[in-house]
Amino acid sequence: MNQPVMGGVAALNVPAYIKHQKLINWVAEIAALAKPDSIYWCDGSEEEYDRLCQLMVDAGTMKKLNPAKRPNSYLACSDPSDVARVEDRTYICSATKEQAGPTNNWMDPAEMRRTLHGLFDGCMAGRTLYVVPFSMGPLGSPIAHIGVELSDSPYVAVNMRIMTRMGKAVYDVLGTDGEFVPCVHTVGAPLRPGQKDVAWPCNATKYIVHYPETREIWSYGSGYGGNALLGKKCFALRIASNMGNQEAKQDGTGWLAEHMLILGVESPEGKKHYVAAAFPSACGKTNFAMLIPPASFNGWKVTTIGDDIAWIKPGADGRLYAINPEAGYFGVAPGTNTRTNSNCMASLGENTIFTNVALTDDGDVWWEGMTKEVPAHLVDWQGKDWTPASGTKAAHPNARFTVAATQNPVIDAAWDDPAGVPISAFIFGGRRSTTVPLVTEARNWVEGVYMAATMGSETTAAAAGQMGIVRRDPFAMLPFIGYNMGDYFKHWLRLGEKVAAKNAAALPKIFCVNWFRTDDEGKFVWPGFGDNMRVLKWMLERTEGNAQGTENMFGTTPRFEDLNWDGISFTQGQFDTITSIDKDAWKEELKLHEELFQKLEGHVPQELVQVKADLEKRLSV
Ligand code: OXD
Ligand code: MN
Repeated sequence: MNQPVMGGVAALNVPAYIKHQKLINWVAEIAALAKPDSIYWCDGSEEEYDRLCQLMVDAGTMKKLNPAKRPNSYLACSDPSDVARVEDRTYICSATKEQAGPTNNWMDPAEMRRTLHGLFDGCMAGRTLYVVPFSMGPLGSPIAHIGVELSDSPYVAVNMRIMTRMGKAVYDVLGTDGEFVPCVHTVGAPLRPGQKDVAWPCNATKYIVHYPETREIWSYGSGYGGNALLGKKCFALRIASNMGNQEAKQDGTGWLAEHMLILGVESPEGKKHYVAAAFPSACGKTNFAMLIPPASFNGWKVTTIGDDIAWIKPGADGRLYAINPEAGYFGVAPGTNTRTNSNCMASLGENTIFTNVALTDDGDVWWEGMTKEVPAHLVDWQGKDWTPASGTKAAHPNARFTVAATQNPVIDAAWDDPAGVPISAFIFGGRRSTTVPLVTEARNWVEGVYMAATMGSETTAAAAGQMGIVRRDPFAMLPFIGYNMGDYFKHWLRLGEKVAAKNAAALPKIFCVNWFRTDDEGKFVWPGFGDNMRVLKWMLERTEGNAQGTENMFGTTPRFEDLNWDGISFTQGQFDTITSIDKDAWKEELKLHEELFQKLEGHVPQELVQVKADLEKRLSV
């Protein structure tokens, strides 16, 4: 054990296996500021996980579910004010406002440091500071990176054990001087001596702060999801997108950190492709990543690499290789059932943490859409008695499950491969009830980047705020890009050029999809879920040059006869409803593209301005 820090600060008690002095000094420095009662170094063991869960059961933060129904699983219910990511409290504190760009909140880093220093002073009093070492990506992978989160939340520690490769082995990779991203998190609820804790401590004031220059993350006031599990959105997207762009200045290419699922598709002949797909939050990414092909697609297999985030780097052969930096799924529970995603339901059978779902009378969980039959009585996510007559949601719409990727019955054999998997196609999709057709293939990389850059989507419960309004969500990265959005478009264009220059055939094709078009009565027309396989098959055959389509003003799209309709009665008329292009609607849509470009003024690449001009020309004839 190292020497304890003196002077009223908790003893450091550094385990002997940690040899990284800079890390030890940093923990000491944060402890001196936050003043926790004690410091605990997580080793990632099962014994530790069980112990911390029990501690939270004793504290009333979690309930252990009935082991006969849901072995080794827990239900946590948050404070009603702490239920989603807080985008309006999320900051990118780069040196200049321009570097953060107009789509991010910005504050001068020195000023933000002063603000946070004040808030963090004594913020962990009465609590334990957990030191959580984690790897984003397979340990030691050339695409992976390490982080260490200091948090006063045991809920964070146990969730990080599921969501990342967390524990002792990380220190072997770090050695004496390895690089790590420092992540500091507090629920912002210090306890006075003798003060009784609440079940879900948090603070009405919240700050989710990123310093791209120093690659640091500081989070204050929330214990929920992406606000608190700092490996996910904060590191794997906001900081990592910065890293990928910065590294382009060093090696000329850089890499991509994307809000994308990665899935594998194998044909009956054994031909395998991997695709990466970006959708905004709560648009069915987990369902797509675990898709079960319709019965008529005998012999086709879909397997999961990741359900939310992809880190993508060019490999030696010039192709783009992707890893899932995460090790678990933090998915939206409501709407998930054996019909929409039976693989997901099978994953959740045991060893799962549920947050903000309802509790059944027999000690199991329930959420809206889980079963056709609604239970006669539940305890809702706020701990209140609930019956179908209550008129409220039993589970919060952004209720979540945290589960290890290894519990997914269709996990891909290569999901943990340090080399990653080669990507054949990128798919971009938004939630649009009108305007955007079922599927379009971009004619080239630049047009594909334009499609992704101008994507719009109706907002969901994953973020605090108004639901259902259409907002531009470029690359599904609006809440997650760590630098100027216009520069990010440039990064995509330049990276594509580099890949194509080395091996033009290696450049993935880009597709834009919309599963969410509705009819006159507001009902979804496309069946979605497993039937998305019909579109996926067409896209893959296009990458191989084996499928027909027709060209429209945006790119190539399948005709009715180009998709496989075995085992489904879907009419040409229905197909027309979801593929029609309404020129007037598109003229309005283009105005919104223009609005985005104006917002990003001075940073939008000229190539994209040209694509827009060409589109406008095509629309006007
Ligand atoms: C998520 C999100 O939790 O995108 O994945 O909000
Ligand atoms: Mn997400």
